Amino acid sequence: MKKILVATGGGDCPGLNAVIRAIVKSADMHGGWEVYGSIEAFNGVLSEPTEIVRLTESNTAGIHVRGGTIIRTTNKGNPLAYPVQLPDSTWTTKDISGELVQKIRDFGFDAVVNIGGDGSQKISQALFEQGLNIIGVPKTIDNDLSATDLTFGFSTAVQIATDSFDKLVTTAESHHRVMIMEVMGRDAGWIALHTAIAGGAEICLIPEIPYDIEKVTWKINKRYNDGRGFVNIVVAEGARPLEGNVMAQQAKDVGDEHLKLGGIANYLRCQIEKIGCEAQVRTTILGHVQRGGSPIAFDRILATAMGVKAFELMDSGDFGKMVTYKNNEIGSVAITEAISRYNFLSPAHYLVRTARSLGVSFGDWM
Ligand code: F6P
Repeated sequence: MKKILVATGGGDCPGLNAVIRAIVKSADMHGGWEVYGSIEAFNGVLSEPTEIVRLTESNTAGIHVRGGTIIRTTNKGNPLAYPVQLPDSTWTTKDISGELVQKIRDFGFDAVVNIGGDGSQKISQALFEQGLNIIGVPKTIDNDLSATDLTFGFSTAVQIATDSFDKLVTTAESHHRVMIMEVMGRDAGWIALHTAIAGGAEICLIPEIPYDIEKVTWKINKRYNDGRGFVNIVVAEGARPLEGNVMAQQAKDVGDEHLKLGGIANYLRCQIEKIGCEAQVRTTILGHVQRGGSPIAFDRILATAMGVKAFELMDSGDFGKMVTYKNNEIGSVAITEAISRYNFLSPAHYLVRTARSLGVSFGDWM
């Protein structure tokens, strides 16, 4: 029997369990493979005692419907910069990837599937370069990986954001208010743009197009002057004003290198109020609601197809690849290519043009 180790790393996302189930089912159908899961990304391998669980048809049955990941995840376990406490109680980081690869080998694993976003796939590549048989499966609700047209979890996040937006429209209308809804999207505005079009926003602010507050308020005033007594705005957490920076704080947790974004909705409210907007302005920050709960059918299917492809790549020994979804087909690319650039939203993208044609303001034009 050959042994596969599966890990889920970074922020969770609806669809992770569907990938795990698909790998287990494929391995079962094919025969000759046993599947194991490392708890909390690779921490399960590194911890003493280890936390590695056998994944079977019976303990993964029906999990494609469930959000989160049954093998847990963490953003504090990067083996390339692993947190280590010094005798004086301060923390430093150390590259323990060699130790990790050795441990995986010692446990008798023949191959590893690492399901995660950009950061996790950088880890996959480093482990591959050290000789580990590894396959990457992309994951992020932000949809910011360039090698794949879509990542599972993204469409679910858009659905959740759109449902919330629809609710804010009715209350905005009742109170003649300006409603600002902040959605996720650190570097790319995919969730914000999709939600703006699906929900019918007047203003959509995204990281790729820094906004001019004068142009935002011009649009708000125009809407009120035209007799439409309310405005709905979608803003991505990574959006920023022309003359400013993103709203972020350094993570407090040891081992988490990511900036914690959030707060642009409230900053924007203050800007709008300061400029003299007479309407009441209210903010909603959706936050992790967008990453929770059951994946919609599309994401279950995409995640399942990606899990099956990961098994096929592994079974044929085609390592160092990341599964992709391009032009309506499941495929793969070298992980090095997958991590070489982000999937930023081009201001020339057809959906940006679509939104502009509907009169949606990105805060850059009157
Ligand atoms: O990268 C995905 C993402 O959902 C971002 O949009 C967001 O900024 C981040 O994760 C939040 O991560 P955490 O779980 O650390 O708060």
